[in-house]
Formats: sequence, C-alpha cells, structure tokens
Amino acid sequence: MESVDLLITHASELLTLKGPKKPRIREQMKNLGIIKNGSLAIKDGQIVDVGRNLRYKPETTLDAAGKLVMPGFVDPHTHVVFAGSREFELDLKLAGVPYMEILRRGGGIFYTVEKTRKASPTQLLVQSKKRLDTMLRHGTTSCEAKTGYGLDVENELKLLKVQKKLQGSHPMELVSTFLGAHAIPEQMDGDDYVQTILHEMLPKTKGLARFCDVFCEKGVFTVEQTRKILEAGKQYGLVPKIHADEIVNTGGATLAAEVGAISADHLLRSSEAGLQAMARNHVTGVLLPGTPFCMMMQRYAPARKIIGLGVPVALGTDLNPNCWTENMQLIIQLACLNMKMTPAEAITAATFNAACAIGVNNRVGSLEKGKQADLLILDCPSHQFLPYHFGVNLVETVIKKGEIF
Ligand code: NIG
Ligand code: FE
Repeated sequence: MESVDLLITHASELLTLKGPKKPRIREQMKNLGIIKNGSLAIKDGQIVDVGRNLRYKPETTLDAAGKLVMPGFVDPHTHVVFAGSREFELDLKLAGVPYMEILRRGGGIFYTVEKTRKASPTQLLVQSKKRLDTMLRHGTTSCEAKTGYGLDVENELKLLKVQKKLQGSHPMELVSTFLGAHAIPEQMDGDDYVQTILHEMLPKTKGLARFCDVFCEKGVFTVEQTRKILEAGKQYGLVPKIHADEIVNTGGATLAAEVGAISADHLLRSSEAGLQAMARNHVTGVLLPGTPFCMMMQRYAPARKIIGLGVPVALGTDLNPNCWTENMQLIIQLACLNMKMTPAEAITAATFNAACAIGVNNRVGSLEKGKQADLLILDCPSHQFLPYHFGVNLVETVIKKGEIF
C-alpha cells in the first residue's frame, strides 16, 4: 500500500493535541486542542493542513461526521518480543501467589526466558508481528519494544536484532530498548551478571537500541546496580529508562531524576520526594495500569498525586506475557476508571506525552502541520466516549504515514 493524499472532513471532534513541544504537565494535559467539525489534509504522508472547511481537493475524501479524529496512540512501554505464554499463572494468582513468588519459583520471567531462548529469530519475528498487527488494529501507530527475555549475551543480541528487523518490516514505528537487566539469570550472582551487562552486552547494542532500561526492584536489581548499568549505557549513547518502584519503593524515581532518565515507569510505590525530583528534572512518568489490573492488585499508581506534583504522565500497555494486551484503548479506560485520570488527561498521556517518553514527539503525538500523518478515526462522537464505551475496539480507521489501514 501507498500513502494517499487525503482529506478528512466534518469530524465531530478533531483532537489536535496542539500545544507545548515538551511533555505536558498539570493543566496542560487537559487541553486537547479540540476542533469541532474539524478537517485535516494529508499529502505525501504528512499533515499539510488542519482546521475547518479546508480548501483542498485530493484524490480521496473521508467523511468523519459523528466521529472522533485523533493522533495514533503511542505505546511507550512494551515487551512485545517474547515466545510462549503464561495463561496457567492465572490460577496461581487467583490462589494468592504473589508475582515475585512465582518468579522465585522459576516461573514468570524465567519461564518466558526459557521459551524465548529456544525460539529462532524467525519464530520470534512471526509471533511479534502478529502482536504488532493487533496493536495497529487497535490504534497504536508507534511503540517502544524492550529486550529482556534473553538474559545472556547471545540471546539478548538475538532479541535486539529481531527488534531491528521489525523496525523495517512492519508499518508500526518501533523504538528499541535494551533491557538486559530484566532479571538476574538463575544460578548467577547479581554483581557478576551486572559485569556481563557492562562489558559484554552494552558494547554490542550499537545501532540496535536507543534506550537502556533496568528492572530496579527489591530482589532484582538494586539502585546502585541500576545506576551502574544506566551510567554505562550512556557511554554507548543509550538514554536511561527505569522500571521504578513497582512493588517496593527502592528509590527508583529519585534515581531516574539523578541519571537523567527520559522516563520512569510503573511508580506504584514511589516516594513524594522521588516524584518531586522527577518533576524538577522533567522525567516523564509512564503509568501502566494494565499490570495491577491483571495481577488483581487493589493499588494503582497514584496518578492524581503524580500529576498534581507536576510530573508529566504517559500511559502504556506494558504488553508482556504477564500482562498481555495490545490495546491502548483499554489502558485509557483503566486510567480513567481506576486511576481517576480525566478522559482528556488520559488521551494526552496516550499520545503526545507517550511520544515524549520515547523521544518521537517531534514527528508524532499531535496533529499539526508538518507532522507525520499518524491518526485514527474512532466511532465516538466525542473524546469522552473513548473511556466511556469500553471493552470494544472503537477504532474504525488507522492512518499511518498517510497509508490507510
Ligand atoms: O514491566 N516488571 C518487570 N517486567 C515486566 C513483567 C515481565 C514478565 O512478567 O514477563 C513488567 O511488568
Ligand atoms: Fe515492563
């Protein structure tokens, strides 16, 4: 397929997300730049005009009367490349076995590592592409993808190469993250594995990753180990990200501010001081409500408090074998219904701020002249419908770089 020159007309609401070019905070998150009865023109895969009653005569016109037009979702946190599945863990979770206990018994991440190590690059490509197809159908037009189910030099490199290959062979725009520090391999000492990451893995990430992430958590990587890895990653041009304070507050949010991370993700247990440090240093907080949802946890990240402290907030799926959803619409619904974000805040978090969290906001995340034509037409008369009419795919048309899907 090719990009088509296109005019979209009469959208009941066209959400431009026009605004500051930096991650949006507090009141800024509420401003969706709505144009009622909006039109948008696309030429050569780019947005050439946005407004009302545009004078433009392209080959194709789409009437969006009664519909919502908005930027494609950006999913800033996925572990999309993995083999196998873990549906049997639900029975354990229902019996009350905690996530970290499943991991200690050799399940969880370790189970997926075993399957992923055995899978060939082609098998991983096929399985991951299917997930990217589902993501695209549900409106995600750009995403991040992390390694982390290899946990040795050979297999982490295999995953980085699969991610690279996906970048060129799927319409989804994919930004690659190296997460060698996702767990300490079984039978290995944590500090020894950190040495392997520093000296054998990081040097091989050249040209294959843009970010370096660490699962900083009690019983996984300590704050000091995390700092070492992220500082070393910077020497290879990798921008830091952190899985921070998901289960226990270990100071991940503070560390994110100290190392200049682009984002700190999860943040269920972060201290107020840590969140304040993030706000001062413009670290985006990526909240992942799918994770506590599928783990049946009572607690979600305190989104109202995080926004109130001035941290820019983004939303992501965390797509992985523990929390398997490709659907950012569900994440927006959970953000509103379980974290009390307003529909406008959640939409900003799933588009522009999510683009900021993976460094692609110069190209995507808002509908403005000169930006890439990544947008959606949804069967919603207003943006409030998106979290209101839940559990179905509201996306009717996906346009990626001017191509209609
Ligand atoms: O972000 N917390 C660590 N990593 C993933 C889960 C990975 C897994 O369970 O396979 C997360 O939740
Ligand atoms: Fe994650």
